[in-house]
Amino acid sequence: MIRLFLLCVASFVHAQASQPCVSMKVSSYAMVCVCNSTYCDTVPQLPTLTPGMFAAYTSSQSGDRFQLATAKVTDTAASGLVLEINKNVTRQTIIGFGGAFTDAAGINIASLPQAAQEKLIQSYFASDGLEYTIGRIPMASCDFSTHPYSYDDVAGDLNLTHFALAQEDLKLKIPYIKQALNLTNSKLRMFGSPWSAPAWMKTNGNMTGNGTLIGQPGGPYFKTWANYFVRFVEEYSKQGIPIWGLTTQNEPADGNIYRFPFQAMGWTPETQRDFVKMDLGPALRSNKLQHVQLMIMDDQRLMLPYWAKVIYADPEALQYISGVAVHWYIDQFVPINVLDFTHELQPNKFIFGSEACSGDLPWEADVSLGDWSRGEKYASDIIGDLNHWVTGWTDWNIALDLGGGPNWVKNFVDSPIIVNASRGEFYKQPMFYAMGHFSKFLVPGSVHVELKANIKNDIQSTAFLRPDGSLAVVLLNTDVSPVTLSVHDTEIGYLDITISGKSIKTLLWKNK
Ligand SMILES: *[C@@H]1O[C@H](CO)[C@@H](O)[C@H](O)[C@H]1NC(C)=O
Ligand SMILES: *[C@@H]1O[C@H](CO)[C@@H](O)[C@H](O)[C@H]1NC(C)=O
Ligand SMILES: *[C@@H]1O[C@H](CO)[C@@H](O)[C@H](O)[C@H]1NC(C)=O
Ligand SMILES: *[C@@H]1O[C@H](CO)[C@@H](O)[C@H](O)[C@H]1NC(C)=O
Ligand SMILES: *[C@@H]1O[C@H](CO)[C@@H](O)[C@H](O)[C@H]1NC(C)=O
Ligand SMILES: *[C@@H]1O[C@H](CO)[C@@H](O)[C@H](O)[C@H]1NC(C)=O
Ligand SMILES: *[C@@H]1O[C@H](CO)[C@@H](O)[C@H](O)[C@H]1NC(C)=O
Repeated sequence: MIRLFLLCVASFVHAQASQPCVSMKVSSYAMVCVCNSTYCDTVPQLPTLTPGMFAAYTSSQSGDRFQLATAKVTDTAASGLVLEINKNVTRQTIIGFGGAFTDAAGINIASLPQAAQEKLIQSYFASDGLEYTIGRIPMASCDFSTHPYSYDDVAGDLNLTHFALAQEDLKLKIPYIKQALNLTNSKLRMFGSPWSAPAWMKTNGNMTGNGTLIGQPGGPYFKTWANYFVRFVEEYSKQGIPIWGLTTQNEPADGNIYRFPFQAMGWTPETQRDFVKMDLGPALRSNKLQHVQLMIMDDQRLMLPYWAKVIYADPEALQYISGVAVHWYIDQFVPINVLDFTHELQPNKFIFGSEACSGDLPWEADVSLGDWSRGEKYASDIIGDLNHWVTGWTDWNIALDLGGGPNWVKNFVDSPIIVNASRGEFYKQPMFYAMGHFSKFLVPGSVHVELKANIKNDIQSTAFLRPDGSLAVVLLNTDVSPVTLSVHDTEIGYLDITISGKSIKTLLWKNK
C-alpha cells in the first residue's frame, strides 16, 4: 500500500515537471502539438549544469519537441568536424526574442476558453514556456485588425484633444500583455510601431494607399505626429505597461507604393531623419521619455545599409537613435553582409529584428499546419542574423486562426500558434519550437562568441556566452542525413553529438 502510494506521488511529481507534446499528425511529415484548457506541453527544465557535463535540447521534423538529454564532455573529438568556441572574440549582446500583440492575435486568444487562453500566454512567456522577453504593439490598427482606425480620428485635432486608446487596445491587447508581464516578472520589453497616422493628417486623406504626413518635418502635422507617439507611451504606461521602445514607422517604403492595400505611411530616409531630429527626438526628450529606445527603418534588409547611412550621417538625428529595426521578408534575395556594413556605420547602434512570418508570399499557403520547413526557415534566418550583429528577433502575430487571420484586407499569413476556436484548442507549430531554441536560452545579456568550424560543412550554428557564465550553442541541420560533430571549448573539452536530419539543437554547458 505504502509503496504504491509513493510510486503514485513520484509519477505525479514527474508529470508536473514537464508535459510532453500531444501530437496531431497533419500529414506524413507535418505535425503540431495540441493544447486545450486542461493540457499543454511545457519545456523540460534545464538541469543544474556542472562542469564536465552538457545538456542538449532537440526538436526535429521526426517529432522531437525540446527533447532533453545530458552527456559528459570528452577528451577527444567524435568525428572530423569540430566547431571551436573562442570566447575571446565577442560581438553583440542579446536584447531579446518575442512576438506581436496584434488585434488578430487578441481576437484569437479571446476565442478560447479562459483556461486555454492562459495556457497560450504561458506557452510563450512562462518559465516552463519559451520565456519571450519582447512584445510588439501596433500603434492603433494594421492589416491584422478588423477595420482601419487610429487613436484620434477627429479631423483637424492637431492638439490631440480627442486622443484615446481604442477598444482593441483595452480588450484585445492590454489584458494579454499584462498576463505576459506578470509571467516574466515585468522583464518584458514592449515596443510600439505605427502603420499610419490618422487619415486627416495625410496628403491622401486615407490610412491606406500612398500618402505622407502633410507638410514638412518641423511643421504642425509633424509636431502632432511626434506628440501622438508621446501620448501612446503615456497611455500605455497609465495602463501599467511600460514601453521600452518605438520604431519610427512600420515599413516606411509601403506608403510610397501607389494604391498600397493596407495602413501605411510613406517616408524617405531623409524625411525620417528630419522628423527624428526636429520633432520626435525632441518631443520624447521634453516629455522625459529619452529612455525609450528609438529604432529607425523597421523595413526590409534590402534597404540597408543605405537607409541607416543617410540617417546616421546626421549627428543631430543620431543622438536620439538607439538602433535600426529590420524585417525578414526578402532576406533570401539580399546578401547578409549588408548587416555587417550597417553595424560598421555606427558600432554603438544596435540592429534588431522587428517582424517576420511565414506564408506571406503569394504562391505560399497562408497557414501550412505542422510544416517543419517553416520552423527551419525561422531557425536559419535567426542564426544568420545572430552571426551578423543582430541583437534580437520578433515574430509577427502570436496567434492566428486556421485561415491565418483575421485580416481586413485578407493578407493572411502563418503563426507559430494557430487557434481552432470551435474546438477550444490551439496548435503549436514547428515555428513555435524554433523560436524557443533561441528565446529560452539566449537570454537578454548573452554575448555572441566566435564559433568556427575546422572543415567545410552544412550545419548552421551560433554561440553565446550567457550572463551566468554558461555557454549556449544553437545548431541547425537542414539536410535529411544525421551529422556527427564536436563542439570544442578549450577550457573543458569536446561536446560530442549527433544532430539528426531536419533538426534543431541547443547545447548548454558551464566551464568553471
Ligand atoms: C485536452 O487534451 C488532453 C490531452 O490531449 C485530453 O486528454 C483532454 O480530453 C482534452 N480536453 C478537452 C476538453 O478536450
Ligand atoms: C583567450 O585569451 C586568453 C587570455 O588572453 C588566452 O590565454 C587564451 O589563449 C585565449 N584563447 C584563445 C582561444 O585564443
Ligand atoms: C491648440 O492649442 C493651442 C494652445 O492652447 C491653441 O492656441 C490652438 O488654437 C489649439 N489648436 C487647435 C487646432 O485646437
Ligand atoms: C502576478 O499575478 C499574481 C496574481 O494575481 C500576483 O500576486 C503577482 O504579484 C503578479 N506578479 C507580477 C510580477 O506582477
Ligand atoms: C481609402 O482608400 C480605400 C482604398 O482605395 C477606399 O476604399 C476608401 O474609400 C478610402 N477612404 C477614404 C476616407 O477616402
Ligand atoms: C500616389 O502615387 C501616384 C502615382 O505615382 C501619384 O500620382 C500621387 O501623387 C501619389 N499620391 C500621394 C498623395 O502621394
Ligand atoms: C478544428 O475543429 C473542428 C471541430 O470543431 C474540426 O472539425 C477540425 O478538423 C479542426 N481543425 C483541425 C485543423 O484540426
